[in-house]
Amino acid sequence: MAKRMKPEDLRSFRWFGVQDLRAFGHRSRAKQMGYGADDWEGKPAIAIINTWSDINQCHAHFKQRVEDVKRGVLQAGGFPIELPAMSLSEPFVKPSTMLYRNMLAMEAEELLRSHPVDGAVLMGGCDKTTPALIMAAASMNIPAIFVPAGPMLRGNWHGEPLGSGTDSWKYWAELRAGNITEDEWDEVESGIARSPGHCMTMGTASTMTSAAEALGMTLPGAASIPAADSNHIRMASASGRRIVDMVWEDLKPREILTEKALKNAVTTTMALGGSTNSAIHLLAVGRRAGVDIDLSLFDALSRDTPVIADIRPSGRYLMEDFYYAGGLRGLLSRLSAKLHLDAVTANGKTLGENLEGAKVYNDEVIRPLDNTMSEEGGLVVLKGNLAPDGAVIKHTAAEPQLHQHKGPAVVFKNYNDMAMRIDDVNLDITKDSVIVLQNAGPVGGPGMPEWGQLPIPQKLLKEGVRDMVRISDARMSGTSYGACVLHVAPESFIGGPLALVQDGDMVELDIPGRRLHLDVSDEELARRKAEWVAPKPHYPRGYGWMYAQHIRQANEGCDFDFLEAGDEDVPEPEIH
Ligand code: FES
Repeated sequence: MAKRMKPEDLRSFRWFGVQDLRAFGHRSRAKQMGYGADDWEGKPAIAIINTWSDINQCHAHFKQRVEDVKRGVLQAGGFPIELPAMSLSEPFVKPSTMLYRNMLAMEAEELLRSHPVDGAVLMGGCDKTTPALIMAAASMNIPAIFVPAGPMLRGNWHGEPLGSGTDSWKYWAELRAGNITEDEWDEVESGIARSPGHCMTMGTASTMTSAAEALGMTLPGAASIPAADSNHIRMASASGRRIVDMVWEDLKPREILTEKALKNAVTTTMALGGSTNSAIHLLAVGRRAGVDIDLSLFDALSRDTPVIADIRPSGRYLMEDFYYAGGLRGLLSRLSAKLHLDAVTANGKTLGENLEGAKVYNDEVIRPLDNTMSEEGGLVVLKGNLAPDGAVIKHTAAEPQLHQHKGPAVVFKNYNDMAMRIDDVNLDITKDSVIVLQNAGPVGGPGMPEWGQLPIPQKLLKEGVRDMVRISDARMSGTSYGACVLHVAPESFIGGPLALVQDGDMVELDIPGRRLHLDVSDEELARRKAEWVAPKPHYPRGYGWMYAQHIRQANEGCDFDFLEAGDEDVPEPEIH
């Protein structure tokens, strides 16, 4: 029989239900806000973690949408409590939202821990907000459901669809090559983001909200609904209703975030041709939930999973097309033989039950298994003396002739060095060179910015070059493309081998062989390492200092070491 909580078992009962002076304070202060016993007595208190802000375009609708969630909570007999959290607007936060993903995860976890709440609705979608909120839920482990922001509508320019990020890079390159005018570039600027919602290519946001659904943390079908679609409103209120039952059923995140769920999420991201960032975030979620996964799982599942979503940057379409084609449920129904269908999800049903009746309505957007985009998934894990702990490349977004490539390195010490010299006409570089950027990793960036799609030098662009092998310890936007080796670990700032590369060294990329090799002898590398001088730390104090002390490397998920799943034998303190 399903578990059933009693009102006096609720966490919030300790704040509102007992007869002591402290509870008097809680009740009297709730009454100060106009609430009364009818609002809380015998009712689950539901935190709604809202990552809305005036400067997060992707969550612009959350100000209204939170009211739809509240409506659902009230309908189901819950007590909604909105708790704002930092919104991590991807384009506006410098140096990188990745610097603050763990901060939002900590904030959300502690908001839940410190307040009188029994369950949580997590409202996110813009890149880092999804993993951060799910990491928080895994650690706090009270019933939680994720409400994805939903993708924005397609961009439009002269009747052509425009994709977030992907078409920015594309038309920026065309502008630099002199193929479009400044006026046309302005038109692209006005047409590329037309509605609330997150980036509508298969960038990090679409990848991670889809992963959240595959993990079982959303209602079925939630992740693909465009933000501007009225179905999104109904999904939000349904999520509000569902969380109240999840509390009564005591269905907690760690019952959902199992090894099977993590594998389902990785398989899903592969079939989507999803963002390389998902490797970092899903590792972090797994480690929070106490599930032992590492990068090798991503490579293994990538080899076994075809890309069947024809979505930019790997494909042609956008998330709005994906929704009309059947959305994630449609895609998962085609993948069902590769999924753990018995994994439990937020609605209390298994993934398999949730996929019953799912259909694909457009075989161009969601390909059948006999007409895939590629036979393997969209992510390859590379190893070699240049990346002993691993590196990744989205090979589906790289030109095929670069999948096996050997060329001389052109090294930039940091981002500013690259920005200053990359377009220098005297730079000794050809299309066969390998561009290397150092000191752009988790500590070095700082915050592992999305610089990994290193720019092609202008003089080569004018010759028609559109892709080259590029290597860094940075990340890359999921909307980017190119033969960009990313997440090199250990990173150069802490003395990883990437720090030792010099101009002219031969570098070998072998995607089929999963190899990234620096053609320099071990003796020479040891000599260079002995002479290597660690760069000065970026931060003398504050959050940045703490971040640098505790951040894990990319192959471990970039969480703080002290936030990963703790020792079960050491109980957390009781709240009084
Ligand atoms: Fe928010 Fe891309 S800017 S998801």
